[in-house]
Amino acid sequence: MSDLFSKFDELIETREQLLSTGLTDPFNLVMEKVESPTVAICNGKRTILLGTYNYMGMTFDPDVIAAGKQALDDFGSGTTGSRVLNGTYSGHRACEEALKDFYAMDHAMVFSTGYQANLGIISTIAGKDDYIVLDIDSHASIYDGCALGNAQIVPFRHNDIEALEKRLKRIPEGAGKLVILEGVYSMLGDIAPLREMVAVSKANGAMVLVDEAHSMGFIGEHGRGVAEAQGIIDDVDFIIGTFSKSVGTVGGFCVSNHPKFEILRLVCRPYVFTASLPPSVVATAATSIRKLANSADKRAHLWENSKRLHAGLRQLGFTLGTDEPQSAIIAVIMPDLETGAAMWEALLNEGLYVNLARPPATPANMTLLRCSLCALHTEDQVGEILGMFAAAGRATGCID
Ligand SMILES: Cc1ncc(COP(=O)(O)O)c(C=O)c1O
Repeated sequence: MSDLFSKFDELIETREQLLSTGLTDPFNLVMEKVESPTVAICNGKRTILLGTYNYMGMTFDPDVIAAGKQALDDFGSGTTGSRVLNGTYSGHRACEEALKDFYAMDHAMVFSTGYQANLGIISTIAGKDDYIVLDIDSHASIYDGCALGNAQIVPFRHNDIEALEKRLKRIPEGAGKLVILEGVYSMLGDIAPLREMVAVSKANGAMVLVDEAHSMGFIGEHGRGVAEAQGIIDDVDFIIGTFSKSVGTVGGFCVSNHPKFEILRLVCRPYVFTASLPPSVVATAATSIRKLANSADKRAHLWENSKRLHAGLRQLGFTLGTDEPQSAIIAVIMPDLETGAAMWEALLNEGLYVNLARPPATPANMTLLRCSLCALHTEDQVGEILGMFAAAGRATGCID
């Protein structure tokens, strides 16, 4: 009998080698207690959270929590059904209304996760005779959506407008074309030149889908994302987003002005063939989304945090993913996995949690310590974080 697990042998060996040094497993940490969006207890110790996607700090918002509790009381713990059967409650509709208002768009469709939103929308609108032109650094859920629909995949170099244009011009006349971009790329925290890329896509007859998972709530005047900040949101055909980041719960969505959009509810398999979100989740999401629309002060504070951390880390001598802070994500580039893991552990021992990211999730085989800021990090906490980076960086030899 052949062992179907033999394909994992190399990964098992790398992992065993890393852990044989006595290192804490960076991919197996337990949050024993979560005190707030910015502080948890890990290994019995107070730990500042700098590796969550809780950008706007909504997880402990009193209105959000109250809405979830009320929905649990009124509607029970789950729907036990698909959106197209018994799984659409008034809360699911209210959540879609909140999204339509938030984005000022005609249609909104809520999925059980952001992963499923990409899987569903992409695989349903682009089939085997269609072409998908996408940034090579696209999220796994985007690639999986392309694979599920069997579309022809044409990747182009990260954020390269000319490469996008060249690929578009090579697609056979008359074929269906979908360009997929992200507002913020989550590994390095850099943003896309959406204005130029959307213009090139439209000039070449393509529809455009933008995944704004890491920009919703924070970037743009109303928090609609990079497409809003760059003034081209009305030219985007589909915006994909998630509730697992700024919204502070779980779920995914697509918003659009396409006049035939509603037909997707009947033909999109990852929407039809799965249970809908629990009533408490859609209630927390809807409440959070409505509050995010009016959170300009929090957005401004988050920008301040991002600038302060970026400047401070640079001054300490770390190499960062972007020259300027472009989002709430600041990536610290490590020379290799061993040093990255050692630095990650040293930070944890100091009382700071960041994400350790490694290939294949990262571009160009990089090992990264990804820091994601929250609007509720105080100025003092950012100061504390910088102190911890200084101490851990010196202890591991990452900086002088
Ligand atoms: C760009 C992007 N799209 C989609 C997703 C999936 O979101 P969810 O966590 O809701 O499945 C993620 C999650 O990390 C993401 O980074």
